Amino acid sequence: MEQEINTYIDGTTIIEIEHLKKAFGNNVVLKDFNLTVHKGETVVVMGKSGIGKTVLIKCIIGLVKPDGGKMRVFNQDISKLNQQDLDELRTRIGFVFQNSALYDSMTVRQNLEFPLRRHRKKKIRGNLDLQVREALQNVGLENTIDLMPSELSGGMRKRIGIARSLILRPEIVLYDEPTTGLDPITSEEITHLILELQKKYDTTSIIITHDIDLARETANRIVFLMNGIAYMQGTYEELVNNEDTLIKHFFKRQAI
Ligand SMILES: Nc1ncnc2c1ncn2[C@@H]1O[C@H](COP(=O)(O)OP(=O)(O)OP(=O)(O)O)[C@@H](O)[C@H]1O
Ligand SMILES: [Mg+2]
Repeated sequence: MEQEINTYIDGTTIIEIEHLKKAFGNNVVLKDFNLTVHKGETVVVMGKSGIGKTVLIKCIIGLVKPDGGKMRVFNQDISKLNQQDLDELRTRIGFVFQNSALYDSMTVRQNLEFPLRRHRKKKIRGNLDLQVREALQNVGLENTIDLMPSELSGGMRKRIGIARSLILRPEIVLYDEPTTGLDPITSEEITHLILELQKKYDTTSIIITHDIDLARETANRIVFLMNGIAYMQGTYEELVNNEDTLIKHFFKRQAI
């Protein structure tokens, strides 16, 4: 599996994070975080709850403003972009939120149309219905098109969240805990879905997860976030077999 994923990685840097800092009052979340992600790569970010994983990926799409450091995405400095350029950049990045973040008052169809209408106002939109149906087909949920989010199970909501994030065909996809709260079988299905979509659209991904199976199956590299820094990086095997006490402790605890 590892070999197969690695074949599409080339040397192009897509995300470059240097000395990233972010604090909320006295709460220093990111102290000196560094990470480079290459085209086609899947980087999994792990670390205990509340350590700053969501804050980190929100910095990448400009939803959280860092206090310091450099954040370049597609070779553009995020902190220097005006709102219009930031919006344009965001169309190239899909964000699968931790809580799916579907609009409860909209049907599945309307939820999926939303990014198309918002970002392609001035461009030729193509056939919205066709795009929505293809997105739903990708996640195996064509028959939910007229349902409300409240009528979906947690796993279905996650899938619709993924479909919505991919509808603009982003080059980067950021997944925030795509399998958390799901049973092992549904988690495995989501893992396979992520791998399939990765292959189909040749995306670069960052996946935040506590799910060891998801990490093992998708990661080219795992980054372990701790104390505001990228404490350790390596392949799944390198981290699982790592002798560092904290890493050992984390993997032992997660495997139980
Ligand atoms: N908008 C905000 N204002 C103030 N504090 C915040 C804000 N967003 C995040 N934080 C704080 O930043 C820290 C990191 O939060 P974050 O959501 O990134 O954790 P996480 O690693 O994603 O945790 P989990 O695994 O539980 O999702 C927490 O202490 C949180 O309270
Ligand atoms: Mg989080």
